[in-house]
Amino acid sequence: MLITVPDVLAGEEVAQARKLLDEAEWTDGRVTAGHQSAKTKDNLQIPEGHPAAKELGGMIVQALGKNPLFLAAALPLKVFPPLFNKYTGGQSFGTHVDNAIRQVPGSGARIRTDLSATLFFTGPDEYDGGELCVEDTYGVHRVKLPPGHMVLYPSTSLHHVTPVTRGARICSFFWLQSMIRNDGRRSLMFDLDLAIQRLGRDLPDNEVAEKTAVQLTGVYHNLLREWAEM
Ligand code: NI
Repeated sequence: MLITVPDVLAGEEVAQARKLLDEAEWTDGRVTAGHQSAKTKDNLQIPEGHPAAKELGGMIVQALGKNPLFLAAALPLKVFPPLFNKYTGGQSFGTHVDNAIRQVPGSGARIRTDLSATLFFTGPDEYDGGELCVEDTYGVHRVKLPPGHMVLYPSTSLHHVTPVTRGARICSFFWLQSMIRNDGRRSLMFDLDLAIQRLGRDLPDNEVAEKTAVQLTGVYHNLLREWAEM
C-alpha cells in the first residue's frame, strides 16, 4: 500500500526547515547506499548526525507522533532518524530496493525497514523531474508532493528517482519498522480502522452503529494482538 500523508509539517515548520537546509553542509549521498545501489545513486545528503539533521529529524518524528493518519497507516514500532537529500543538475537515483536492516547511527540498535518514507521540502513548481517512482503489482506510481507532505510505501518495492533537470528537489527520507511487518495485514488493519471511524462519523447517535463499532474495535484489537511484534 502506498499512502500520502498530507501536512505532516505546517507551513512555518517547512519555512524554518528550508532555512536550516539551505545553510547545511551537503556531501555525496553514496555514504548511506549499499554496494549495489551506490552504482546508481547520484545525489547529495546532509551527513548523519549533523546538527541540522538532528534538529529537523526531531521535528519530523515529533510531528509524526501526533499524526493520526500516519499512526493508523504505519502502526510504527521504530523510526529511523530522518536523513535529508538533495537532487540538482540532472542528479537521479536508479532502480533499487532499500536495505532490509539498518543500524541506527551511534547506537547498537537495528531496525527492519518495513516502510520507506519521503517527506518533501521543495514544491513541484521549484524543479522539473525528480519524481519518486514506486513499482508494485499495480504498476508504477509516480509521486511528487507539495512541501510538508509525505509518502509512505512498502520497503519491499523497487523504486527510483528520475533526473532533476531544473532547480533542486530537497526531501527527508527514512524508514520505519512497523508493529505489523506484512504489508497486506497492515493494509487490512488500516481499512478496518477507517471503517470504524466512518461508522462513528457518518452515523452519530445511532445505537446499532455504536454497537457495531464496539464489536469491530474488538476485532481490530484482537487482530493486532495476534499480529503485532514488539
Ligand atoms: Ni531507496
